Amino acid sequence: NWSMKHFIENQVKEIRQTVGDKKVLLGLSGGVDSSVVAVLLNKAIGDQLTCIFVDHGLLRKDEGDQVMESLVGKFGLNIIRVDAKNRFLSKLKGVSDPETKRKIIGNEFIEVFNDEASKLEHVDFLSQGTIYSDVIESGTETAQTIKSHHNVGGLPEDMTFELIEPLKTLFKDEVRKLGIELAMPESLVWRQPFPGPGLGIRVLGEITEEKLAIVRESDAVLRDEIKKAGLDRDIWQYFTVLPGIRSVGVKSDARTYDYTVGIRAITSVDGMTADFARIPWDVLQKISVRIVNEVPHVNRIVYDITSKPPATVEWE
Ligand code: XMP
Repeated sequence: NWSMKHFIENQVKEIRQTVGDKKVLLGLSGGVDSSVVAVLLNKAIGDQLTCIFVDHGLLRKDEGDQVMESLVGKFGLNIIRVDAKNRFLSKLKGVSDPETKRKIIGNEFIEVFNDEASKLEHVDFLSQGTIYSDVIESGTETAQTIKSHHNVGGLPEDMTFELIEPLKTLFKDEVRKLGIELAMPESLVWRQPFPGPGLGIRVLGEITEEKLAIVRESDAVLRDEIKKAGLDRDIWQYFTVLPGIRSVGVKSDARTYDYTVGIRAITSVDGMTADFARIPWDVLQKISVRIVNEVPHVNRIVYDITSKPPATVEWE
């Protein structure tokens, strides 16, 4: 891919020029964007890069381990993994407003990141995996902020880093092409977009460990079946949400009063507009049966058939 080769060459040159012999810090989220930036920076400046991977406890099943394996294993990146689950959950306790949750997660993320960053010496640059749609949706280029995306802005005022955002002009499909060109594993490059606040905005309202477990487990089942059906590349994003509704059901002749899980699956080119994905009925049926059988406290599955707009991709 000529244009990506060219992009890489230019970026590597530019990053080297900007950074010189100084050090760069990168917040790794586990998503495609920050992973691609990490590998790009690694190519440019090698071990002058330190990544901090804040595990906020709101990641998908096994996600943290997989990120470490593929980036440390294959590329030898220098990654500090921070287990901050308890910090996040205690800050989020009792909070149900979506924007407040986002802000808490964003702020806590920065605090944990700062705590780790302050242990490092002589870091002059901060890099981020901001892509074009993040910039737009955070209102930098439009008047209205749709949702506060925590990976744009919100940096603490006392941070004196200079910012490096090499993907700022790219759309998601271009970020993926870049990843392939950088020889990143397909499993990482084709990872579906995952929001910074993670499962925290897929448990609607107040977050509890029980609810998080329901979303995490049902999401794992959904992903497994979508992959088995060979649909994982056609569907832009697919995940489960927990609206917090409980309803009556029946299991082994006994009445149940348990949670409803929603399936959200969309097709899109950039996440800015989206259509709901037409997952075949038989695949949906398998997913439904498995979630209800395998995930405790779930007795009903619904399918989200709204496009964006008027709905957003995420439910919060
Ligand atoms: P919405 O829900 O705004 O989502 O239609 C559009 C795309 O952005 C992702 N998303 C986020 N990504 N931080 C992120 O990095 C966030 O706070 C965030 N909120 C939503 C969402 O998953 C979808 O791909």
